[in-house]
Amino acid sequence: MSQGNIGADVKNLVRILGAHSYGKADVVVRELLQNGRDAIHSRFRGESGSRGRIDVTALRSSITFIDNGTGMKRGELEEYLSKLGTTIKQAENAGSTGNDPIGEFGIGFFSAFMIADRIIVRTRKPDEGKAFEWNSVGSTSYEITELQDPIEPGTQVTIIFTARLQQVRGRGGTAPDHPAVLRFHGL
Ligand SMILES: Nc1ncnc2c1ncn2[C@@H]1O[C@H](COP(=O)(O)OP(=O)(O)O)[C@@H](O)[C@H]1O
Ligand SMILES: [Mg+2]
Repeated sequence: MSQGNIGADVKNLVRILGAHSYGKADVVVRELLQNGRDAIHSRFRGESGSRGRIDVTALRSSITFIDNGTGMKRGELEEYLSKLGTTIKQAENAGSTGNDPIGEFGIGFFSAFMIADRIIVRTRKPDEGKAFEWNSVGSTSYEITELQDPIEPGTQVTIIFTARLQQVRGRGGTAPDHPAVLRFHGL
């Protein structure tokens, strides 16, 4: 007898599941904002005043979500950002929205691969000096490195758009040097 692990190509899987989704970008933005908000709630739970912040910056080739939430340790990056479908939180909360299947699978973070060729996560816990970068082009692997320069506590998720999406955004005349910025403060 022999046994083995079943390897799944995350990027392909997510794109197959999302093939019939309307508004792929909407789904991704919603999932990443939700993760930022969850992390903020977990950091500031029970505190008075609302110090939670999420800043979103869109460029022609990328979009970055920065939150000042609870951040992740190296082990947490390995645990949470390496296994598709390990959480059912989203699936439980989502209910049925009819036209948005991807939102109901609990894929959350990984839904970003519907519009990303690469995802970079930089993160630091509030009570730790060390910050880490998680980097993946989807498929079946990721890399984690310790950052040399410190970052503010929290998490920064950068999505490098697919080449096709970059092309479409370029045609729309989105100026790369004029980022679109959205700030959600007081969360
Ligand atoms: N911005 C973030 N800050 C801190 N932890 C995060 C962040 N984004 C994702 N995570 C971690 O990764 C896990 C997986 O995220 P996700 O796939 O969206 O599933 P869910 O949010 O349903 O648990 C989260 O449960 C959380 O532990
Ligand atoms: Mg989530």
